[in-house]
Amino acid sequence: MLKTPSCSLYSAADFPMLKKKIHGKSLVYFDSAATSLKPQEVIDAISEFYGEKYGTVHRAIYALSLESTALYGGVRKQVQKFLNAEFEEEIIFTKGTTESINLVAASFGKAFLKPGDEVILSEMEHHSNIVPWQLICEEKGAILKVIPITDAGELDLDVYRTLLSSKTKMVAITHMSNAIGTINPIKEIITLAHAWGAKVLIDGAQSAPHLCIDVQDLDADFFAFSGHKVFGPTGVGVLYGKKELLEKMPPYQGGGDMIAHVSFEKTTYQSLPLKFEAGTPMIASVIGLGRALSYIEEVGKPNIRHYEEELLGYATKQLEEIPGLKVIGTAKHKGPIISFVIPGIHSLDLGVLLDLQGIAVRTGHHCTQPLMQRFNIPGTVRLSFAPYNTIEEIDFFVKTLKEILKDL
Ligand SMILES: Cc1ncc(COP(=O)(O)O)c(C=O)c1O
Repeated sequence: MLKTPSCSLYSAADFPMLKKKIHGKSLVYFDSAATSLKPQEVIDAISEFYGEKYGTVHRAIYALSLESTALYGGVRKQVQKFLNAEFEEEIIFTKGTTESINLVAASFGKAFLKPGDEVILSEMEHHSNIVPWQLICEEKGAILKVIPITDAGELDLDVYRTLLSSKTKMVAITHMSNAIGTINPIKEIITLAHAWGAKVLIDGAQSAPHLCIDVQDLDADFFAFSGHKVFGPTGVGVLYGKKELLEKMPPYQGGGDMIAHVSFEKTTYQSLPLKFEAGTPMIASVIGLGRALSYIEEVGKPNIRHYEEELLGYATKQLEEIPGLKVIGTAKHKGPIISFVIPGIHSLDLGVLLDLQGIAVRTGHHCTQPLMQRFNIPGTVRLSFAPYNTIEEIDFFVKTLKEILKDL
């Protein structure tokens, strides 16, 4: 629920995990980029489904199944609105961003990649947006090209322009870096790729919780995100794909629900979106995702963005004043993520000492080893904010960090 700007944007009371004590201390949760905490209403929606409305989808004609099918389909419409997709059938439910990207790499790759074709990624990608492409490129004899990043952690668009050619079939780029917070100019990236006839996949795992997404305005070919980072449950994610492309792509997995007719001679497939949703889906998680998206919409992304920019600006200023501390990633456009290193101190040690004070931060390479190599560091301490965080928590963090550094 919306509160006054001096408090957190979301009431901490909505999030049962924030009542928890860690080592006897109140939890300060600064790891929302890894996974966000869940509001009670999302937890209730899942439990209500299991306790009062449970039934499978698509398969049966009895009332419970029809109701589940309607709830499940309703969330698809909600996601369509969340992304401003043109058609409902462009929304595929997956297990998460990782599975969404694997689906596109495997299926698009199978249909469209030939030996010598090129796939462009960037130096700041999460491993989930690297390894699936490596796998399919190895299989198809295609070549990976990498957009370098500047010292500030921004994509070098001049190099990007030179990498594009008629051989480029796919550009797969993160909307917002999970490790250093950079928000990439994806509209420009998409326009440039389309000029060469290449398709573009946007890894929206980090942007979906914070930024307004309009896949039609962006002209994105594919957009992937995870439920658990937008206040929803684990085990559910979304793949948006343009209808005309998804229709040309072969199924990713085979099984129940995705078929029109099966015989040993020839099997035919369902139309979209079911062609890509083999097996009994994660119905409860999809319903939880629906409630999570409503929770975001009640406050609105512009309010979320504004509030998180205040947190980011405040925290950056406080941290930069600590002698020796170096912020990694100083891009002009950033989401609410700060990564830093302190020479001579291992990020893991800091993580452990902060944890003892109830502060949860992420340490290490953040599943972006090539990015760490780019900065010549083994890892960082990463703070990532959500609308349930407060300025007071940042003050507590900075005070605690200073005390730890005094003792080290
Ligand atoms: C930028 C980015 N891409 C992909 C992923 C993978 O998401 P998931 O593990 O939910 O599939 C993450 C998760 O941290 C991420 O931050």
